[in-house]
Amino acid sequence: MRLQMRKRLLLLSSLFMLLCSLKAQNNTITIHADQKGANISPTMWGLFFEDINFAADGGVYAELVKNRSFEFNNPFMGWRRLMGRIPRGRLDVFNTGNPNNPRYIQIINNSADSTVGIQNEGFRGMGVQEGATYNFSVLIKKAGTKNPSLVIELVNSKGEVIGTTSLSGFTDKWNKHKAKLTATATEAKASLRVLVKGEGTLHMDMISLFPQDTWKGRENGFRKDLVQKLYDLKPGFIRFPGGCIVEGRDLANRYQWKNTVGKVEDRKVIINRWSSEIAQRSPADYYQSYGLGFYEYFLLAEDLGAEPLPILNCGMACQFNTGELVAMEQLDTYIQDALDLIEFANGAITTKWGKLRAEMGHPAPFNLKKLGVGNEQWGPEYITRAKAFTAVIKKKYPTIELIGSVGPYSGGENFEYLWKEMKTLKPELVDEHYYSPPNWFLRNARRYDTYDVSGPKIFAGEFAAHDRPLPDGRRKNNWYGALAEAAFMTGLERNARVVSMASYAPLFAHVDVWQWSPNLIWFNNLTSVATANYYVQQLFSTNKGSYVVPAIMNEKSIAGEDSLYVSATIDDRSNEIIIKLVNANPAQKNITINITGVTRIANKLTVTTLSNTDLQLENSVEQQTNIIPVKKEISISGNSFTYMAEASSMNVIRIQKN
Ligand code: AHR
Repeated sequence: MRLQMRKRLLLLSSLFMLLCSLKAQNNTITIHADQKGANISPTMWGLFFEDINFAADGGVYAELVKNRSFEFNNPFMGWRRLMGRIPRGRLDVFNTGNPNNPRYIQIINNSADSTVGIQNEGFRGMGVQEGATYNFSVLIKKAGTKNPSLVIELVNSKGEVIGTTSLSGFTDKWNKHKAKLTATATEAKASLRVLVKGEGTLHMDMISLFPQDTWKGRENGFRKDLVQKLYDLKPGFIRFPGGCIVEGRDLANRYQWKNTVGKVEDRKVIINRWSSEIAQRSPADYYQSYGLGFYEYFLLAEDLGAEPLPILNCGMACQFNTGELVAMEQLDTYIQDALDLIEFANGAITTKWGKLRAEMGHPAPFNLKKLGVGNEQWGPEYITRAKAFTAVIKKKYPTIELIGSVGPYSGGENFEYLWKEMKTLKPELVDEHYYSPPNWFLRNARRYDTYDVSGPKIFAGEFAAHDRPLPDGRRKNNWYGALAEAAFMTGLERNARVVSMASYAPLFAHVDVWQWSPNLIWFNNLTSVATANYYVQQLFSTNKGSYVVPAIMNEKSIAGEDSLYVSATIDDRSNEIIIKLVNANPAQKNITINITGVTRIANKLTVTTLSNTDLQLENSVEQQTNIIPVKKEISISGNSFTYMAEASSMNVIRIQKN
């Protein structure tokens, strides 16, 4: 009996293997290189920026001093008073009543031979590099007749001085004074001491320290390594400032772009909503200095060659929090903010807001084309507000394209309702979000195959594969998630007729103080790492092509058949066929690729591969190269050739058409 059973099992398993091998033999992909499909939008692959995980202050915004203008709820948060054991001076906070930057400090040193001052801890320390120069600045005036000076010191985590400079010659008028320091050692957790030497009284505000070597050497600039990583993604657009941060936990906490432009010292600091969103990850010291404000966002977009894509509050606070609504009679202020933003970005320098842009250093327009109305809103209240925004904006600026929300989820009742409304409201784009398990991404590679081309186009504005969390709550940026995203993205590209924008979210995270995971780029105070997900995004954006052509297997497009996912495009400029092939099998696949519709192709192809059989593997700041793209050339002969796709791999194949 048992023997019979075993025989049956053996027979069954050999049948299964035979079926598998037969199936494997069917892996012939035909690329119809002469059948032009939809054009791929220049904005297809872009960036989603939100100040979450210390992405702005403490992240890409290169300011090293936290709470530089003493405007946090606790004015000394981030600062330590250095008064000595028996204080021979005092430190006070004054409030000027200026609503945007009310506070400054006064330090009195009562003794010629003592030193009193303050020390700033930075954003979980300050990252400084040996030999690099740092620009110190302070708004300062003296009070009284004495003339104390300032000594400024960079200090390492052991308390040793690793850089020093001084300033003197202060008057009784507020002035910005600047000095340079050079670090004598590399330190991830440095701090900054500002010491008053000699008897007298000094008033200080906006105590600031920036690396000299910022992106493009700009003052008030960005961390170079982080922007370089964005630049290397060749993004088609950059969405800002979020995310839920647009909405705020309540309306008072919403993002108001007008508070983020003009002189840096006049920008109104507010608490970051992510300081209290996630119970176990609530950094009380998370504020928005707005040193990175809307002007800087537009400038960043320009630097990256990306279209700027602001998302504005539509009179609704985050519906996961208070869901506070502005009354319809008071919505005008919000709509006016949108109109004024368009003027700030595109208006002539003779207009109020265009003039401000010019005064800030950019007389030329920023060429804003698209605007998002609300982030993840839902319900009829959203539709009422979106309609009001649309009517006014379209009347004044008919060519500005609008983006509507269909809520935070990829489906469900709210989603259906909002989509129905969007078909009537007709924004140019609809913003879909999906944070789902890797399997969802694999299963949904056909999501857009049936979407209606006549409706608004799709902006996949926030997406990321979320695998199960680790015990500490972090979800890894593992290869499994990245591979699943790659598979799904072949579906976005294949459906370029309806999908015209997509961005992974969120973008940045500080390893010591994150709230959300996974994220595209992680960093500490000294270095940053591109995740496997980053490389997937990069392979799509740098191998975009001009238009889609059919890639067919067994008479169908390929979105999960035998765990393969394929899209193909033609790059008009380089005259190349670009094939993106994801093998989600745990085994290597030999695939026959037929290119039809071209008389001849080159006798070699280049392929860039991301692969690993360990689906849990990820890159980290310590191990940056676990999963990185590998490029090689392969000789082929004729229009039909065999390609070996490694197990669990994403492959970008480029072949020259002759
Ligand atoms: O990307 C993180 C958050 O996810 C965004 O702020 C929000 O829009 C979404 O819920």
